[in-house]
Amino acid sequence: MLFFSGGITKTLRFQSLGEIEFRAASCTGALYHIEIYIICSDISGLEAGVYHFNPQNSSLTVLRKGDYRKVLANAVANEPFTSTAPIMLVFTDVFSRNAVKYQAREYRHTFWDCGTILSNALAMSNAQKVPCKLILGFVDSEINSLLGLDTRKEAAVAILPLGHFDQEIPTSPSMSEVSKSEPSEQYVDLASINEIHESSSLTDKQEVASWRNQVIHEPQSVKPIESTGRVSLKDSLETVILRRGSTRKFSQDSISLEQLSTILKRSTGRIISDFEKESINDVYLIANAVDGLEQGSYFYNKEHDKLEILQKGDFRNISGHLGLDQSLPYDASITVFFMVNLQKILERLGNRGYRVAQLDASIMGGRMYLASYALHIGATGLTFYDDEVTEFFSPHASNKNTMFMMALGKKAKS
Ligand SMILES: Cc1cc2nc3c(=O)[nH]c(=O)nc-3n(C[C@H](O)[C@H](O)[C@H](O)COP(=O)(O)O)c2cc1C
Repeated sequence: MLFFSGGITKTLRFQSLGEIEFRAASCTGALYHIEIYIICSDISGLEAGVYHFNPQNSSLTVLRKGDYRKVLANAVANEPFTSTAPIMLVFTDVFSRNAVKYQAREYRHTFWDCGTILSNALAMSNAQKVPCKLILGFVDSEINSLLGLDTRKEAAVAILPLGHFDQEIPTSPSMSEVSKSEPSEQYVDLASINEIHESSSLTDKQEVASWRNQVIHEPQSVKPIESTGRVSLKDSLETVILRRGSTRKFSQDSISLEQLSTILKRSTGRIISDFEKESINDVYLIANAVDGLEQGSYFYNKEHDKLEILQKGDFRNISGHLGLDQSLPYDASITVFFMVNLQKILERLGNRGYRVAQLDASIMGGRMYLASYALHIGATGLTFYDDEVTEFFSPHASNKNTMFMMALGKKAKS
């Protein structure tokens, strides 16, 4: 799971840049700022402890020996699934590694890039039949000190408890200082990133418990309707992850409606989490070239698995423009925008809602990479002009903000 979520899956040589190591999940700028930690009980082949996953050689560095799961269980206010999990993965962000290129915008990339890794982890746990649950409500300071993090530089973003043990978690050993060799990072001013992260932190167990109580809501019972045919997926998940990469040039050729429909359905299913029972982002599309689907802009009705046309027309130029005027969104068969009413989410979930809204979308984006590559269709995440996306999809999307963008299509032959 660690390798297929955060491991190095290929090394490519570029004339100008030399060798670059690429990883299992996509990451803005290939700067790989998300780290994975493991907190576990004694499991087959591994003693209880707190570990850091090192993608360079797929090894684990011991940070603490002993069973520290109780510290984590307390920090999530004894969330029931976590309280019985033998293994807990914690995903953190080393801010400067990405901020060195993107400055304060890196804070968005925290969730974009954590989300794509999480979608691989969630898919792997599903394939391996290991139960898991994504946890975003936790006392930030307690998780960060368990991992020995200097929170100005690195902080926990998400927790993924794995598996189920019927035994109560024992009391943890006392916590001493963690000695870690800090990788040298370039100096970047992180004040605004630290400030915004702090402002969405939860400070004690009571706050975590009441946050969780606010967010859980039951989905409406809607009978799903299978609107179009599906394409069966043949390769194993591992094969698909090894094949995945961000497409660098699309051919403008069409994909089929069945392929699009399969990708949409596979990418937008439920995420088992402590924040919602259904994905909260809405899905908007521009269809440039899909056999069996008129060119135009669409809203994907997830509940009914149906594409609803918003506007007919050739929007290839707009598709390219919204994705920062790059050729990728212009040449793609489809561009996809995950949008949410952020104001409403913030009113309901407080500042923590920002993390939820971004991660919910980026997990769907990560799944879209996997579903596309499973069908031998190319895909790439993209950056976009926020307000112009809202404008284009208005009035339908007039109160929504874009969280994540993808482009899908046939790869151009190089
Ligand atoms: C959220 C997100 C936004 C991205 N935006 C762009 C973009 O605007 N232009 C681009 O060429 N690539 C973009 N990428 C692709 C990354 O550059 C690519 O993931 C990274 O170089 C790692 O390569 P890989 O995905 O092939 O493993 C984006 C990726 C993600 C996840």
